[in-house]
This record gives sequence, structure tokens and C-alpha cells, in this order.
Amino acid sequence: MLKSCQTSSFASKEAMLSELSNFPVCLAPMVGLSHVAMRMALRHYLPEDAKTIWPTEMLSSFKLPKQNLKSVSMLNKAESEVDLVPQILGNEKEPIETSMDMLKTYGAKGIDINMGCPVKKALKYNYGVSLMGDPEYAATVVSYAVNSPSKLPVSVKFRAGFQKDTSVLLDFSKGIEASGASWVTLHPRFSDQKRRGRADWSQIAFLKSKLSIPVVGNGDIETLDDLINMKEETGCDMVMIGRALTLRPWLFWQLGEHLSLKDPEFFKGKESPKTSLEEGEELGRHMLRLLDYHYQYFDETEALKKFLFYIKVMHSWLMFGHDLYRRSTMCKDKKNLELLIKDFFSRPQAVMKKSKSRY
Ligand SMILES: Cc1cc2nc3c(=O)[nH]c(=O)nc-3n(C[C@H](O)[C@H](O)[C@H](O)COP(=O)(O)O)c2cc1C
Repeated sequence: MLKSCQTSSFASKEAMLSELSNFPVCLAPMVGLSHVAMRMALRHYLPEDAKTIWPTEMLSSFKLPKQNLKSVSMLNKAESEVDLVPQILGNEKEPIETSMDMLKTYGAKGIDINMGCPVKKALKYNYGVSLMGDPEYAATVVSYAVNSPSKLPVSVKFRAGFQKDTSVLLDFSKGIEASGASWVTLHPRFSDQKRRGRADWSQIAFLKSKLSIPVVGNGDIETLDDLINMKEETGCDMVMIGRALTLRPWLFWQLGEHLSLKDPEFFKGKESPKTSLEEGEELGRHMLRLLDYHYQYFDETEALKKFLFYIKVMHSWLMFGHDLYRRSTMCKDKKNLELLIKDFFSRPQAVMKKSKSRY
């Protein structure tokens, strides 16, 4: 099934996503996590010929026009990164147009509009998930972006809305499709669930059956089986993974093995980790690489802050993750962190299939 999805023919608008990607998995946009260091570390695990879309951290279209992009560390990138689809928040024409122009110059290949952010500020100022309460205006916001001079493809990431009412979800997403979005991503939790409860994948299947543009499914993938199940149960065109990819980057590699793709260049001839102890060993190596990338792409203060946040999010998948987390909060620099990781992983560490508690 997964193989056939990968090679299925695409209708006209789907070409946008298929031109940017030939691999049905991508990283989710996450504040504090989907930055250049994370992307660079994850890229080692992509099968050799696989290409996918990559997010940035979320950017405000209200702030960007007043900023020098070179000074926005959330936009730090490697020279080799030619596949970025930054995510913006916004609801006004001019700031969206200007931001998109700037991001095109920066090298973006598309723009994702966040209509799922449930924080209070978003609700107060009518962006993020609050746009789901006004489908007509949400569609207008999409048309600002689609018709902007940048001509970048536009996607929209949203939630299941405010309550289970598929007619509202349908109205909202049909409006977005009609306004010219190239693809949509659904994280099927309600606004007030934040990240609690379970993502209701049946809503992804529902959307896929109703829209003609590609639907990316997101929510609660932790293992390769979850990934395959979401693809098969919902028929979605691509699976977006957030938290689990930060901890289990080899999901890319495992999917490549499942699809009989060429191994990642970095791991040529090796097999991906399968048992929880093999995963633990690989995680130790991954964390050291990830740490290096943090200090390569950010100044010391930001690198430390971001890496500590990463441990806070991922530690609940590790059998003794609480120990790693507690000790990490006492680290003050790269050397401390490196010593901690080496010491922690000098003993066998098990990565659990499912996390104990979710960030
Ligand atoms: C720390 C963190 C920050 C997030 N920030 C954003 C964001 O800026 N934009 C967004 O669309 N979603 C954001 N999300 C939601 C994720 O993109 C994703 O929808 C959610 O985590 C569910 O996917 P998962 O179960 O694979 O993690 C964030 C999630 C986490 C854990």
C-alpha cells in the first residue's frame, strides 16, 4: 500500500507536493525544535534518493517584514538546504505578501500557514486556530498568500476545529482548497486538547475522501508500524511526524527499508536499529551529532537552551529518561552536555515503543 501511494499518479495541484517530495514522510513544524540543527541531524537518516519537505520554526508574518532575516536565528540554515517550506502565522494581506517575498529570497520552496496554533494570543488576535472559527476569512487569508507576487506554493496546517463537527471541518477545508492551497495538513485534535488525548485519524481519512488536493496526516506516530497504519487507514498522501522524529530519526531509514529504497548515504550497508537497545545505542550517537549541530548553527546561549528543550521533549521515551533530563538541567555548556550523553549511554539504554508521558 505504502509503495503504491508513493508512485500513485498525481492530479494537477498535487504536482506541487510531488515536485517537492518523493518520500511520504516529513518533519512537523515545532517551535524550539524544527530548526537547522535538528534538520541537519535528521537528514543523515533519509534514504539516499529520498527527498522531502522540511519546516522551519514558526515565524510571525507581523514581525518578519521589520526584521533582517540574517538576524532571525529561527531561519538559520545550511547552504545545502534547498527544500525548506517555512511556516508563518498571520491574517493580513500586506504582512503575508511581504513575508513571502522575503522568504522566497531566503530560498523557501513553499509556505505553510499555521491555522492550528491554539495558544491564547492566537485566539485573541484571530490567527492560528481561531481562523478555523471563520472559514470565509481563513479562505481569504489563503488567497492573500496564493495570489502574492512570490507565487510560492501554499499549504495550510490545521486542527480538527473546536468540536467534533465534520461539516465545519469540511466547510473550512473546502474553502482553503478553493482558494488555491496546494496541500493541507491535518492534526486531528480539537483546539482545547492542545496535545492531550489521542489524534483521531478517522478525520484524516474523512478529509482525504473529500478533498482533491493532497492531505498530509499528522498526530501520534511513534513507530514504523504507526506510520504504515496511518498511511493505510487514512489514505493520506504524506505522514508528518513531530515529537517521535526528534527521538527516533531512524523512522526515515526504517521506512526506506520497508520501501526497498537505497540506504541512507551516511549508514551505507548497515541495518536500521530494531530492538529497543539497538535504538538506545543509535540514539546516543544521534544526540552527540545533534549537539554538534546545535553549537555549529547557534550561539552558545541559544544552543544550550535549544538542546535542553530537546531533552525535555524526548526524555519520556527512554526507560531512564528522567535521570537524563534531571542531570541535563544542571549542564551549563557543550562540554557538560557531551560528558552527560557519553556517560548516560555508556550503559545500555532502552528506547520504549511508546512514550510514558507526552510532552
Ligand atoms: C514543542 C512543540 C512545538 C510545536 N510547535 C508547533 C508550531 O509552531 N506549529 C505547528 O503547526 N505545530 C506545532 N506543534 C504541533 C506539531 O507540529 C504536531 O502537530 C503535533 O506535535 C502532533 O504531532 P506528533 O504527535 O507527531 O508530535 C508543536 C508541537 C510541539 C511538541
